[in-house]
Amino acid sequence: MIGRPPLAERVLAERVHAVPPSGIRRFFDIAATMDDVISLGVGEPDFDTPRVIVEAGVESLREGRTHYTSNHGTIELRQALADHLERRYEVRYDPATEILITVGASEALDLALRATCDPGDEVILHEPSYVAYVPAIVFAGGVPRQVATRFEDDFALDPSAVEAAITPRTKALFLGYPSNPTGAVLPDEVQDELAAIAERHDLLVYSDEIYDRLAYGDYRHRAFSALPGMRERTILMGGFSKAYAMTGWRVGYVAAPIGILEGLVKVHQYGIMSAPTTAQDAALAAVHDGEADVERMLAEYDRRRRLLVDGLNALGLDTFEPRGAFYAFPRITSTRLDDETFTERLLSEERVAVVPGSAFGPSGAGHVRMCYATSYAGLETALERIGRFVERARA
Ligand SMILES: Cc1ncc(COP(=O)(O)O)c(C=O)c1O
Repeated sequence: MIGRPPLAERVLAERVHAVPPSGIRRFFDIAATMDDVISLGVGEPDFDTPRVIVEAGVESLREGRTHYTSNHGTIELRQALADHLERRYEVRYDPATEILITVGASEALDLALRATCDPGDEVILHEPSYVAYVPAIVFAGGVPRQVATRFEDDFALDPSAVEAAITPRTKALFLGYPSNPTGAVLPDEVQDELAAIAERHDLLVYSDEIYDRLAYGDYRHRAFSALPGMRERTILMGGFSKAYAMTGWRVGYVAAPIGILEGLVKVHQYGIMSAPTTAQDAALAAVHDGEADVERMLAEYDRRRRLLVDGLNALGLDTFEPRGAFYAFPRITSTRLDDETFTERLLSEERVAVVPGSAFGPSGAGHVRMCYATSYAGLETALERIGRFVERARA
């Protein structure tokens, strides 16, 4: 029909139209068509899944464990996670009723929001932050209220800014620390203040702690639900992708008090049924036998972290010290380029792929994200190339 917009435009839901495509993927697609690219773009370990975990997955298939599991996931994995969370963070969850195994932390995020957001509920979220948070809130019918964090504060979240963003419609606070894209962590005193705010304003807290094991120097991660009074109001989300190098297995988890978890299970059971059985069996081996491998990979990330952060600062790209995850977030304003142009030109002129900081929120502008989960030698070459590029840009 003449004058009508195309069908796709008319049939897609408003909330889908409202969310732009990911600002990350465009650069990966370009990089994929080029030779000799060093990618600091994708947030994924360069290590293959440790042998002991792979073997458990293979064994699971050989034994014919090719069927659905309980909607909650296998009781063995839930028990192992409950013990793990208690041992590391001194917070206790009942494996039978308070832990759910999901298809990655990605499903955990989606479930948590869909099970708890009513239309118009406001969710306070720090930015820059992981690209999936705002879409997950919007798809669930919620309204994201972003709170800026700044380079000058090492991208720490300011509790008074959180409190200032609270309105009568505020339902929840969303925390994603250690942070993708900045590598920032929440200092203990900030966590304590945020917990007091959550209590004072009766907020639900979503806490994405997928990078909990990737912590450096003297930083010790604390689970948000382990803080006094927080267990009952926190949905704790985690996964196996990062610490155990298991991105392709698609397995993660949620831990929450029984009443809340029941709601998430309802959404999961109709939408997913159960997380992949092979991946659950492999994840069980990861929790039981993967510790030495986590420590080995962590030590190597730390070595690369120091190389990259020192190298970038030496090039005059101001980079604060990331204490968690595997990202550096240099400020690139000294090149007089904006982050999109910097990213495009660095890729086409020197074949180094990074991600523009503005893809993670307005306060990411003027920065780029570099993932150091790539080889040490690759990082050394990337630094040489970035050095050449920066010199040219400043000339
Ligand atoms: C902060 C954050 N949360 C969640 C995810 C999703 O992880 P998964 O592979 O467990 O779905 C990622 C992946 O990049 C991430 O960076």
